[in-house]
Amino acid sequence: MNLDKQWWENFTQTNQNFRKTCVINDVLSAEEIENLTNAINEALLEKLKSGEKGGFRLYFPEENAAKVNNKYKDKMFTDHPQPCETLQEYFKRSFGQKFGIIFNAAERYSPYIAEKLMMFTKPLIDTIGLPAAGMHATVFIGDYGWTPLGIHQDHKGANVIHFHLGPGEKTMYTWEENKYKELTGGKQNNHDITPLLEEAEVYTFGTGDLYYMPWDQFHIGKNDEYSIGITFWFNNPTKATYFDNVMNTFYTQYIDDNNEEVINPQKEYAKNPTTFDDVMTLFKSDEIMNMSVKDFFQRIHSDYKYSLISNHGWENTPQTRKQLDQYEIDDYDHLKSKTIKAPQPFKIIYDNSNEDSFVFYVRGYKMEIRKNNFLPEIIDKINSFEHVNTEDLLANINSEWPEEAGLYFLSMIYDKRGFDVVH
Ligand SMILES: [Fe+2]
Repeated sequence: MNLDKQWWENFTQTNQNFRKTCVINDVLSAEEIENLTNAINEALLEKLKSGEKGGFRLYFPEENAAKVNNKYKDKMFTDHPQPCETLQEYFKRSFGQKFGIIFNAAERYSPYIAEKLMMFTKPLIDTIGLPAAGMHATVFIGDYGWTPLGIHQDHKGANVIHFHLGPGEKTMYTWEENKYKELTGGKQNNHDITPLLEEAEVYTFGTGDLYYMPWDQFHIGKNDEYSIGITFWFNNPTKATYFDNVMNTFYTQYIDDNNEEVINPQKEYAKNPTTFDDVMTLFKSDEIMNMSVKDFFQRIHSDYKYSLISNHGWENTPQTRKQLDQYEIDDYDHLKSKTIKAPQPFKIIYDNSNEDSFVFYVRGYKMEIRKNNFLPEIIDKINSFEHVNTEDLLANINSEWPEEAGLYFLSMIYDKRGFDVVH
């Protein structure tokens, strides 16, 4: 597939500037379909190994079309696909019945999805700009018939591009917002589908096709035969959602939100200062204490933006190597004299304006280290996406820092998936 700037311009015309639903046939080559299908196998396995159960839904339509089956979902997280079996064999062995899986944040669990899907859509993002809350990828797998969510409208602003990997076809039924409201009063998650089908617009697509749908369409999908689809979401948030996202940066960057110490009952509750002291101990740094409220918001707002940009707009960070295979940043020795390469299109962002600390953002993670004038040139070389040798990379900084300190800096980046070791 060569989805270049011109291709996306034609696409934007076809969908009338993202206002109209459309199908474009044969967008993916056979090789891309195979690679993306393999990447989804990989993403699913990594998801199950991670134990991160959020953003993963499993349905058995013959038992209950609308309810997540948590018992079997939990079983998947302990009984993974085996190396010798295909996903379809695994599903047959595990469920033995029709099923649907909706799996969010696939970009977190597969480098191929994070890199290739972003490279496919990069010319479009470069032209229209970044959705303020970024993008994410959701995978649909199964032979579930009607989408388990019933007829629904997606989040406000969340336009979606569906890449269909097959092998089965999928049909989407859509209703214009006003028309659907006249028909049903705007009922969300509506499973009373049949009487409404006459009034629906129908789009059928198969392996290698692309389906685009604006967020305001009421819709439901149907796939009777087993198929996989990967969807790319543009998160154009409401102002309130955007505010939530920015505030979330405050929690992740400045607060020890994993602290599980219990606060005891309080006598003289209103006057008792200990709860306030308890809250203050959760702050990871004193720096923001002396800022005005506006400066504080500006700080977390720019942290949010730079984190998102360093992940090239993906909403979800990749798993760190520590999460993936217990990597320890302190074990940096293995990075000596290695050839490394950064995954495209992810550039590390840095801020060299502080007096004594150097702030840098890698794949959505913000980090800091003691300042040194050679740090920007190291990052610039990694950002070239060329093969670089770590010895050459650290040659200048080694004149000022002990070798271990430079390797430690690289190890921080490596843990956050800022580069791969080639050999
Ligand atoms: Fe939807």
